Amino acid sequence: MSGVNEIRSAFLEYFARNGHEVVASGPLVPRNDPTLMFTNAGMVPFKNVFTGLEKRDYNRATTAQKCVRAGGKHNDLDNVGYTARHHTFFEMLGNFSFGDYFKDRAIELAWNLITREFGLAKDRLLVTVYAEDDEAFGLWKKIAGLSEDRIIRIATSDNFWAMGDTGPCGPCSEIFYDHGDHIWGGPPGSADEDGDRFIEIWNLVFMQFEQLPGERVALPRPSIDTGMGLERIAAVMQGVHDNYDIDLFRALISASENAVGVEAQGDARASHRVIADHLRSASFLIADGVLPSNEGRGYVLRRIMRRAMRHAHLLGSEEPLMWRLVPTLVREMGRAYPELSRAEALITETLKLEERRFRKTLARGLTLLDDASGDLGEGAEFDGETAFKLYDTYGFPLDLTQDALRARGISVDTEGFKVAMERQRAEARAAWSGSGEAATDTVWFTLKDRLGATDFLGYDTEVAEGVVTAMVREGAEAMELQAGDSGLIVLNQTPFYGESGGQVGDTGRMRGEGGVEIEVTGTQKKADGLFVHEVKVIAGKVSLGLPLELLVDGARRAAIRANHSATHLVHEALREVLGTHVAQKGSLVSPERLRFDFSHPKPMVDGELARVEDLANAIVLQNSGVETRLMGVDEAIEQGAMALFGEKYGDEVRVVSMGVATEGEKAGKTYSLELCGGTHVARTGDIGLVTLVAEGAVAAGVRRIEALTGAAARHHLATQDARLREVAGVLKSGQAEVVERVTALVEEKRRLERELAETRKKLAMGGGGETDGGVREIAGTRLLARAVEGLNPKDLKGLADQAKEQIGSGIVVLINAGEDNKAAIVVGVTSDLTDRVSAVDLVRVGSEILGGRGGGGRPDMAQAGGSDASKAQEAIDAIAGHLESAASLTQA
Ligand code: ALA
Repeated sequence: MSGVNEIRSAFLEYFARNGHEVVASGPLVPRNDPTLMFTNAGMVPFKNVFTGLEKRDYNRATTAQKCVRAGGKHNDLDNVGYTARHHTFFEMLGNFSFGDYFKDRAIELAWNLITREFGLAKDRLLVTVYAEDDEAFGLWKKIAGLSEDRIIRIATSDNFWAMGDTGPCGPCSEIFYDHGDHIWGGPPGSADEDGDRFIEIWNLVFMQFEQLPGERVALPRPSIDTGMGLERIAAVMQGVHDNYDIDLFRALISASENAVGVEAQGDARASHRVIADHLRSASFLIADGVLPSNEGRGYVLRRIMRRAMRHAHLLGSEEPLMWRLVPTLVREMGRAYPELSRAEALITETLKLEERRFRKTLARGLTLLDDASGDLGEGAEFDGETAFKLYDTYGFPLDLTQDALRARGISVDTEGFKVAMERQRAEARAAWSGSGEAATDTVWFTLKDRLGATDFLGYDTEVAEGVVTAMVREGAEAMELQAGDSGLIVLNQTPFYGESGGQVGDTGRMRGEGGVEIEVTGTQKKADGLFVHEVKVIAGKVSLGLPLELLVDGARRAAIRANHSATHLVHEALREVLGTHVAQKGSLVSPERLRFDFSHPKPMVDGELARVEDLANAIVLQNSGVETRLMGVDEAIEQGAMALFGEKYGDEVRVVSMGVATEGEKAGKTYSLELCGGTHVARTGDIGLVTLVAEGAVAAGVRRIEALTGAAARHHLATQDARLREVAGVLKSGQAEVVERVTALVEEKRRLERELAETRKKLAMGGGGETDGGVREIAGTRLLARAVEGLNPKDLKGLADQAKEQIGSGIVVLINAGEDNKAAIVVGVTSDLTDRVSAVDLVRVGSEILGGRGGGGRPDMAQAGGSDASKAQEAIDAIAGHLESAASLTQA
């Protein structure tokens, strides 16, 4: 029972047997603590349980917790490879009591485990207690039967454990193992305590206080937090002195020995150790959502990776090495940490990409480093300016340069490095202030410059804590925001997505101590990486440095995720159905719907829309996993990832892949592959359903599609269905016959309209049975004048011609009343009379009465309109009157 995996299981099983809940390791990026860069102790995930802020349904727990100590407060990076016990990544085994048992039981449980279960010899063990802790001293004597000289009182902070500047803390008691007198060193508290003989294996913290800024308060109930380094206890149990000689590290080192063909001896020993250690931290960080970048956590990861990669180069590895060791790591640790197996592809690709890219400048950088340090002897200082050049041009993190010079006893002028860095920043500032950015944006550039990019946690979580690093009100920085204020808040890290790439920003709430309640109405991304929260303070006062609990509106985000992923599927489906000329021209992803603009020269027809919908939904039904990877732009595009033409991308891009194509030349391959920084569903099935609801034009050659997903899509279809049912009810038909019935009704309506028009025409032509047929005689001229209704105005002239024929010689006047009391008047004059009477004159007389003007035509046929058909009879009378007076004039 002494393999690392067995020891871990034995520890957890022992505490499970003793009433502890076995809890899976928390993530390396703490969700519940805004001040920590990485989880660095077993108690971190339980911080709020200790302080009473959070309740769980157990009050005893045990874990094997992944920890990283690199960057941030605890930073062991520099020492890794050169000592027996430094790691950037390690596992901490722990048992926890949240107000349940306290010192006596904690000591008893620990003692029994190491002496009975793990079988450590009692005479190899000794313990320390906090100087004033007589209780712990007595308990060790009583429970373990240790003699007083083996219980050492320590007065320093070594025996008072605190999570950080703030947080739970308390006196502690440490268990030490004596590796034997063949190794130099003295017991804790002695002058030689820094030697390597007596090694701390387990720390029992009697959690009693919470350190707040400026004061220390008692925890609600005394609690227990313990931490045992798995690698250290494994060394003890495997009878080795050096952590790097335990089974797990031997497996990793032998994998790298095989890969490069160089044994871990002499100078190569440190390199192999660095590679093995950094492989673990890099892989676990990537599995927990950290990807290499030039800021924050991502930069710590990059530093770790590049440091290892230089050592791979030192070992003479011609090709990227790290990724080849991933299978060994997964074999050794994947069962205990399933997230490692799940992320294996992502880890492999990220390592390969980083190493391939770094190799492009590594050799040249090392040449520069050698040239610039050639004359330096031990104890000398390397020029800070050159170190900055290595950083800036060759991608050498400062600690890599330091590591490279360490063996020769040369240090780096870090002040000079900082000065060079600051000078470059100032130049960049000057460049953007002259670049025409809007004045209101200057504040963001200033803040970005000062604070760096916000660490975005929202790919993995919707709840986290962050510290307020800046506030802006009315365009200027503010020191605080009060209840009722609206303003903008910047935090060191956030789970809120900032609007970009067509995806709207997140909304939600923030809460803080002192009753602070904040509503987040939107989130923007400014100055290339600064996340800006638009807020309204509901209660309390927000000041700089305040830690806040950040809660994204999860339901809204889920809808956004579904719509964003559906956008990718619709995009690919459009290309499949319409052709590869389809290119994205714009998109909007909101919680309500998705909008996608694309190049296509003509409207889509129904069959095409249905096919796009079918294809997208087929991938939804596949319910396949959605994967996000980081790649170089060139590589991504080479793999066929769709990118936006003209869009600016960084050196590395997120590539989102979705679904498996089932037909066509892509069959069996990834269905959709897109460069995208947005948030997506975990599996395509989470989209639920895709429904296209609109298709139209936005500009020449650009079409727009709108679609709904999930609940919104279902609601839309349900509404359509209800409407159909209602129509069927009105028609008194089954739903299946609705189309047939409506077609028949439309035909019937057309037929009736035709008939009605005919009937009206007949009526107009005197078919109505009037005795005189509307014909009268004025001064010897026949006048046929009729006011009619509802005729098609286009038919009037034809009717007037017919009427002219009927009367043989004379004048015809037809006035039609149309919709909205609109009038149309036609006057016809038979050719024998046109030298005396003009239709144009008569129509003018009529149209004036009808509220129109003028009109036009020829002497034998003229027409005009008017706005008041109710004056038809008046108009006819006026025309008759005009004829009469004209006749009397001629006669006179
Ligand atoms: N939290 C304690 C430590 O990290 C156990 O040492």
